[in-house]
Amino acid sequence: MMIWQTKITKMTKIKYPLIMGAFGGWGKAEFASHFSNAGGLGIIAALNFPDFNDFRKELFKMKQLTDKPFGINLSLPHSNLENPKKKTRSMEDYLNYVEMALKENITIFTTSGYKASFIGKRIHEGGGLWFHKCVLMKHALSAQNDGADAVTIVGLEGTGFKHPLTNTTLINITMGKKLLKIPIIAAGGIGDSRGFLSALLMGAEAVCLGTALMGTKECPVSEKIKNKWLHQDIFSKEFHEKIYLYNTKNFMAPSTAIGHCNKIVSLKEFIDDLMKGAEDILKNWGFKSGFFKTIS
Ligand SMILES: Cc1cc2nc3c(=O)[nH]c(=O)nc-3n(C[C@H](O)[C@H](O)[C@H](O)COP(=O)(O)O)c2cc1C
Repeated sequence: MMIWQTKITKMTKIKYPLIMGAFGGWGKAEFASHFSNAGGLGIIAALNFPDFNDFRKELFKMKQLTDKPFGINLSLPHSNLENPKKKTRSMEDYLNYVEMALKENITIFTTSGYKASFIGKRIHEGGGLWFHKCVLMKHALSAQNDGADAVTIVGLEGTGFKHPLTNTTLINITMGKKLLKIPIIAAGGIGDSRGFLSALLMGAEAVCLGTALMGTKECPVSEKIKNKWLHQDIFSKEFHEKIYLYNTKNFMAPSTAIGHCNKIVSLKEFIDDLMKGAEDILKNWGFKSGFFKTIS
């Protein structure tokens, strides 16, 4: 088995440069622990627990289900939190989640959406790592400016929030590699070994997987729904318009990455296959080392 070393695996001590997407609704210990146990960074989406005590219990549960690294996510609305008309949670609420997680010795935090520097600052004061996720290069640069330790840029191929100026993963990562100093995590449309490997070759230090996990056994939805997703024709006009022309609203249908998934498998099987496939490609290209590193 090949050893994978990138700036992100070094920072987070994960086996593979794979980060679980934040999942509103599903990002809970039972799903996330399987991702961590399979070698990636499982993510608990804190906002799935409106009650802080439930959040604390979930962190405890996660620690029972995995002894591997994991992180938490805080998703912000895509507008100003201080706008009282749109306010869903206050800045203090967000900071309370961070406080509680720090108390429970959580050291890896992901934020997404609107400017999260007030959260990043508290994470850093508590000695944690702060990875921010956004969709535009200018927001990635701004997060870097605010001290983020890494930035995830979601491409047009992905699911979730789309800005009208969203770029493709190809552009985000290759340009990001030139423009940013902090490590980049590629997200959007990645669902197989070639996509994974390409993202690293383009300059990413890890890959964030969302849709590709929707067809796994552990994803907490019915088999009926999963099978519907797995049979999605990603080349249809309807799907194309949904993915590429949809903008500004949160959109949680599977992305084009679902095209790479054709049967329901366990998360472990999915990740083992992804990594084995990447290793095989490298070997076929004549790569002889058992050690893949992006750090020179
Ligand atoms: C069902 C679902 C729920 C999601 N919920 C969130 C969320 O709450 N916060 C967030 O930042 N991203 C959310 N995302 C986006 C993912 O975290 C990730 O950025 C995206 O799925 C990456 O693109 P991909 O689906 O092509 O892999 C969600 C995605 C899906 C499919």
